[in-house]
Amino acid sequence: TSRIAVLTSGGDAQGMNAAVRGAVRTALHLGAEVFAIYEGYQGMVDGGDGIRQVGWDDVGNVLHRGGTMIGTYRSKDFRERAGRLRAAANLVERGIDRLIVIGGDGSLSGLDLFRQEWPGLLAELADTGRIDQALADAHPALMIAGLVGSIDNDLVGTDMTIGADSALHRIVDAIDAIASTAASHQRSFVVEVMGRHCGYLALMSAIAGGCDYVLIPEHPPADGWEDRMCAELRRGRAAGRRDSIVIVAEGAQDREGRPITAAYVRDTIEQRLDEDTRVTILGHVQRGGRPSAFDRWASTWLGHAAAEEVLAATPESVAHVVGIRGNRIAKVPLMQAVERTREVPAAISRGDYAEAMRLRGGSFTE
Ligand code: F6P
Repeated sequence: TSRIAVLTSGGDAQGMNAAVRGAVRTALHLGAEVFAIYEGYQGMVDGGDGIRQVGWDDVGNVLHRGGTMIGTYRSKDFRERAGRLRAAANLVERGIDRLIVIGGDGSLSGLDLFRQEWPGLLAELADTGRIDQALADAHPALMIAGLVGSIDNDLVGTDMTIGADSALHRIVDAIDAIASTAASHQRSFVVEVMGRHCGYLALMSAIAGGCDYVLIPEHPPADGWEDRMCAELRRGRAAGRRDSIVIVAEGAQDREGRPITAAYVRDTIEQRLDEDTRVTILGHVQRGGRPSAFDRWASTWLGHAAAEEVLAATPESVAHVVGIRGNRIAKVPLMQAVERTREVPAAISRGDYAEAMRLRGGSFTE
């Protein structure tokens, strides 16, 4: 019988519960024994009660809940080889050699490193007498599947990451709320949204919320953007618009790579337009609360596909991220997806904004 474990890692995202549920139930249906690892990679490093066998009912009543029921962690221990050695011991002692990780690009590259190191880690555990050689021989490879759980929607090669749709809903709700108070006072608002190096949430919420101006990391504005932004806001006022809303991605920057902060945008509007301006930083509200319908069904589908993928894997299989592309499940090579994701900030700092945008929309079949 195959033994498989599931964990969530990095920032939580709405829909992670649906993914865990989909993965656990599919794996059970396919005859595997399934374990949940609590508190992300840290639970795998610590072992003990952090790795628990789960059944069908253990993942019930979670579809509608935000966050992750099995906890998450930004584990420092797992970044060290010593931590990964302990993690390998904890898995192999339980006969687990298949792993599904739901997390962002950092979590997924850690997963791939762990997979590469696995034979060496087991050899070391056997050589030092921590495990039997027979146990090491019985589990020559770690078979993995990654799912992208991140509100940022930043993984190159996939259309939507788990949580991005819910976060976008949360932001657009907030914009609607801000628009009514802004309109009452004829004020300007600067709204800062999350996304790390990715402008997806900022761009889509600005369009969906009918906002006036947006600043995203992938396309730093050319010099003089303050004048152009203020001209745009002035034009809106002249046309009778009672509210002005500017969306700033938390990773927004100028062409010299200097951050463009919400406070700077506010000061600029106040000074140049002599308007009463307020900043709202939405923060972790974007990551909390109930998942959208999309995040529930898509994450269920992704969890299902990840369980199928990891149970069908052999020691020779290429490691994949299981994502959604063009309304289909798409399996993209894990390390290539992570590497191309990291090329985006590199392209931005070279000033190659067209390349940054091309990478964001890129796929592995083009
Ligand atoms: O990656 C998800 C995310 O919410 C980013 O948008 C944000 O930059 C970061 O995590 C915040 O991290 P933390 O929850 O550790 O403050």
